[in-house]
Amino acid sequence: MKHFLSIYDCPREELDRIFAVTADLRARLRRGEAFTPLQGKSVALIFEKPSTRTRLSFEVGCYQLGAQPLFLSSSTTQMGRGEPIKDMARVMSGYCHAVMIRTFAQSALEEFARWGSIPVINGLTDLLHPCQVLADLQTVVDHFGGYTGKKVAWIGDGNNMANSWLNAAAKLPLDLSLACPPGYKPDPAIFERTKKEARGKIVLTEDPFVAAADADVVTTDVWTSMGNEGQEDKRRRAFGRYQVNAALMAKAKPGAIFLHCLPAHRGEEVTEEVIESPASFVWDEAENRLHVQKAIMVLLLKPEAEG
Ligand code: CP
Ligand code: NVA
Repeated sequence: MKHFLSIYDCPREELDRIFAVTADLRARLRRGEAFTPLQGKSVALIFEKPSTRTRLSFEVGCYQLGAQPLFLSSSTTQMGRGEPIKDMARVMSGYCHAVMIRTFAQSALEEFARWGSIPVINGLTDLLHPCQVLADLQTVVDHFGGYTGKKVAWIGDGNNMANSWLNAAAKLPLDLSLACPPGYKPDPAIFERTKKEARGKIVLTEDPFVAAADADVVTTDVWTSMGNEGQEDKRRRAFGRYQVNAALMAKAKPGAIFLHCLPAHRGEEVTEEVIESPASFVWDEAENRLHVQKAIMVLLLKPEAEG
């Protein structure tokens, strides 16, 4: 693995390796065992959008692995004044050993990867949020003992999370049903590619009850993502039917779990009742961001440390 820009770039064996390393790093941490294979390494964390979980989990993850995290925002660096990505990439490659980027265009990450000589990790773009979907999959593996044959129901916006779930379904044998309102479907190219390549069943519907039927995992996200500010009212009207509530969860399999990447807007995409129910694994999911991202950093920077 040279970069981590998209789940689609990872064959199944590589994804399984990430899950195995994640479980190992988590077990070491829980045993209180120090494991610092990234000592002497510096990891830049570039944020052009806000973050709570991604920033914290990468900073803490770097610290636990012995690396130095360096938080950079566009407003306090020359990025905000228009320094070209290709220049930043070459300068930062001289100081740092890896970079995580949260930004708008996926092409910005690709450009950084092309010009720089250090691994680039996708910390969210308008198109994809691959670290989050890996954490979600890890939560599925932890809870069900595996992902094979599981049915995931995506309810709501065909956004960066939905696209990353499609990429996961292109690589792993799981069923994915997405319920999205008209005008808010996932990226058409990613959807078509997944339809062609997936081993599981891929369904795109406008009916949330069709998507949720017999699902093992019901998952959703905010109706208005970062970058879509100003569209809240229009989106509230379009997404009214796409709330994960008790009636929708009742359509899923008995024992189904609820996931949400957070932050959540209770009363919009999910009810208080569902997110606070025993079926909700959102806190484990959020914690898994830390463990999964540590695994990605170790596999990019020091794979031999993990045998
Ligand atoms: N889920 C997620 O990426 O959260 P943040 O926006 O807080 O980083
Ligand atoms: N789809 C959301 C995810 C936030 C973690 C956004 O892009 O804002």
